[in-house]
Amino acid sequence: MSGIQSSLGPVTSVIGAQWGDEGKGKIVDILASEYDVIARACGGANAGHTIVVEGEKHVFHLMPSGCLHEGKQIVLGSGLVIHLPTLMKEIETLEGHGISILDRLHISNAAHIVFDYHKEVDGALEESRPQPIGTTKRGIGPAYMDKAARTGVRMERLGKDLSKEMQSRVSSIKKIYGVDVDVETELKNIAEAQEKIGHCIIDTVAYLSEARTTGKSILIEGAQAVLLDIDHGTYPFVTSSSTTLAGALQGLGLPPMCVTSCIGVAKAYCTRVGEGVFDTEAEGGAQERLRERGGEYGSTTGRPRRTGWLNIDQLNIANATNGFTHWNVTKLDVLDEEEVIPVMINGKLEELAGWKSNTAGITSFDKLPESAQAYIKRIEAETGVSVGFIGTGPGREEMITRT
Ligand code: GDP
Ligand code: IMO
Ligand code: MG
Repeated sequence: MSGIQSSLGPVTSVIGAQWGDEGKGKIVDILASEYDVIARACGGANAGHTIVVEGEKHVFHLMPSGCLHEGKQIVLGSGLVIHLPTLMKEIETLEGHGISILDRLHISNAAHIVFDYHKEVDGALEESRPQPIGTTKRGIGPAYMDKAARTGVRMERLGKDLSKEMQSRVSSIKKIYGVDVDVETELKNIAEAQEKIGHCIIDTVAYLSEARTTGKSILIEGAQAVLLDIDHGTYPFVTSSSTTLAGALQGLGLPPMCVTSCIGVAKAYCTRVGEGVFDTEAEGGAQERLRERGGEYGSTTGRPRRTGWLNIDQLNIANATNGFTHWNVTKLDVLDEEEVIPVMINGKLEELAGWKSNTAGITSFDKLPESAQAYIKRIEAETGVSVGFIGTGPGREEMITRT
């Protein structure tokens, strides 16, 4: 063990504590240098995890954010739903940057395939709802519908002849959703994927178990976030998977007792993309100001994110379902210009003092202005969880570490 891992332990998880886009990718990228295996557990290409390294921006939808660190083993677990062309494109982009992936990528044979028609069905379902959810239209809900109905196609069948099976779906999908299945394209996508990543498909449960027993460390990258969880989130305005630590462990087939730390990631304010309740949504100029300062546009869909203030009551709910050992409070720098900062505590919107000075790029807690330190300490006091990491900019270096 070395560095941060000596305090986090060998099995660390990173979980979004709000409505997604908290900055999970960045902390995963930072921690990844110290872990042997980086694993995505659930969800699919609805995720958009952005990291900025040496001024260059990388956005990952399926690949774990730690994959820029050469030599680290990468796992896509059983709980994922994988759109093959998206995965192929991501691998090619990385290879274009000179980063090899195929010699260290391990994809669960039990992960489900998202077909193009799932995306079309996602759109059709949205149109048919009296109140749309505002999904990413990446086919996530329909793929999980097939999984739950036990009609899904798992990665283990990539090399098999799926033509009859695809053909058999054409009429029912057309009848129920009015969507055409382009069988030829679906089969072509499968064949191309088989050729490129067929050798990466394995029993990842056995792989992770072996990794643990041989002393390897594992970093779990959560996707989406607690308030988007299918059970514990703001239903029905949620995603279709389990986004908590428990969900991640289920998705990877890891025994719950093996986890040594769980970092809850929360913005110093709050955003939401898509529809649904947002108690602390900002009004007037603040909504736009936070969006512009924070660059709050969806990494996956480019939609403007709704912006608002930190809701500590929600952080407490998120902590109740995850048991965080640390917070990573991200994007503190986005609040630098605020005179006062509203925060929801015990059902009331309280105004905390702003600091009106620059925190961007600060890497030590002592160097933060007093009011910024007080802001962080208030989060600790109200949640009982220590803030181990504070983001002060998008770059890999722009992080205060206090573990
Ligand atoms: P994720 O889905 O949780 O990984 O988060 P996203 O990547 O969707 O959104 C987070 C955005 O904030 C990305 O554009 C990051 O580059 C950026 N970001 C992360 N941490 C910080 C921070 O501390 N300060 C600022 N200004 N930007 C950050
Ligand atoms: P990361 O991992 C933010 C939201 C969508 C929509 C709802 C359902 O980057 O934090 P879905 O396509 O999953 O059926 O959409 O969930 N959503 C996210 N919002 N970040 C994400 O992922 C999200 N993944 C899904 O906007 O409101
Ligand atoms: Mg995101």
